[in-house]
Amino acid sequence: MIPYACPDINQDDIAAVVAVLQTDWLTQGPVVPRFERAVADYCQASFAVAVSSATAALHLSCLALQVGPGSRVWTSPNTFVASANCARYCGAEVDFVDIDATTGNLSVPLLASKLAVADQHGTLPHVLIVVHFAGQSCEMAEVAKLAQQYGFKVIEDASHALGACYQGEPVGNCRFSDITVFSFHAVKLVACGEGGVACCADPELAERVRLLRSHGITREQGADEASDGPWCYQQQLLGFNYRMTEMQAALGLSQLARLPQFLQRRRQLAAQYTALLSPDAVLSLQTPEAEASAWHLYVVRCHNAEVRRYHFEQLRANDIAANVHYIPVYWQPYYRALGFERGYCPQAESYYATALTLPMHSRLTGADVEQIVEILNSGEVA
Ligand SMILES: Cc1ncc(COP(=O)(O)O)c(C=O)c1O
Repeated sequence: MIPYACPDINQDDIAAVVAVLQTDWLTQGPVVPRFERAVADYCQASFAVAVSSATAALHLSCLALQVGPGSRVWTSPNTFVASANCARYCGAEVDFVDIDATTGNLSVPLLASKLAVADQHGTLPHVLIVVHFAGQSCEMAEVAKLAQQYGFKVIEDASHALGACYQGEPVGNCRFSDITVFSFHAVKLVACGEGGVACCADPELAERVRLLRSHGITREQGADEASDGPWCYQQQLLGFNYRMTEMQAALGLSQLARLPQFLQRRRQLAAQYTALLSPDAVLSLQTPEAEASAWHLYVVRCHNAEVRRYHFEQLRANDIAANVHYIPVYWQPYYRALGFERGYCPQAESYYATALTLPMHSRLTGADVEQIVEILNSGEVA
């Protein structure tokens, strides 16, 4: 079976994890801070805080930005449910901004008009979570202008976009946002098995995320409390155990060193798909600037929903695991029960109806791509 995504683990990665297992530090040791420094350096971020998943990083980012009951958080419907669930964990109301069907990213013009209406009704969002779908950055400069105008905070869900650039600078530097979150899940560009990182420029935000990931506990003695002794710790906030282990961080560090090769390989594969796929087989291709996207996913749009299903099943019949990204989040029963109905974001719905994710990962060979394209190009579709 050719998977749509899979990890690429080599002997150096294995050795890095084994080396940690031979120490006494399986958690809360020196490797997590090294991994955090390496991610921050890579993204040109001031701070990076590693946690157990991007979902945890999104949750803590919302909390650090004071999202709570009564807050409104807006996000894209064309994403994994975690981009919206993080706000629900905090008791906030979630709403969705429709997408631009050429990129799959949240549409800035639609955001602007939704904000204008919300402004009139006094229902502006507290936080906007943009999602860099498939590895291509959203139009962050324009999002930041709207954030300034309407006074909301911005989280970048860059789970797909480690290694991507925006305006020539790495996604994650937070030039246009408050916090950027990356995922290190097994099928992401750099794998820790499970893992997430929140990057930010503000030291107080970083400190809050750090405190919340570890039960809200600090070992620094509060000035107002007499310390009983050096064993003392204080719980300042209601935090969580969202820590990353040393093994996860060791794998992440080793993989991060290989990210430039992973990105180069993905660009080559994307170029190969683009060159070979026939317009009879697919209606449109992903067309980001090749060097700017991290190419986490390679999504094509099919001519209609029946053709998409046909291609999907033909690929599966040939042991090729295509996938579909994404079912609009608000179609999920949980969100339907909150009152969302079909038709709410027409662009996201039409995108979903015809989108097909083809295999894309650094272990894919040129011959694999040829085989996949041949199946698609030879499909007898109306
Ligand atoms: C856009 C997006 N956001 C958030 C997540 C959650 O990431 P994690 O699995 O690291 O919690 C994912 C994972 O698939 C994702 O694709």
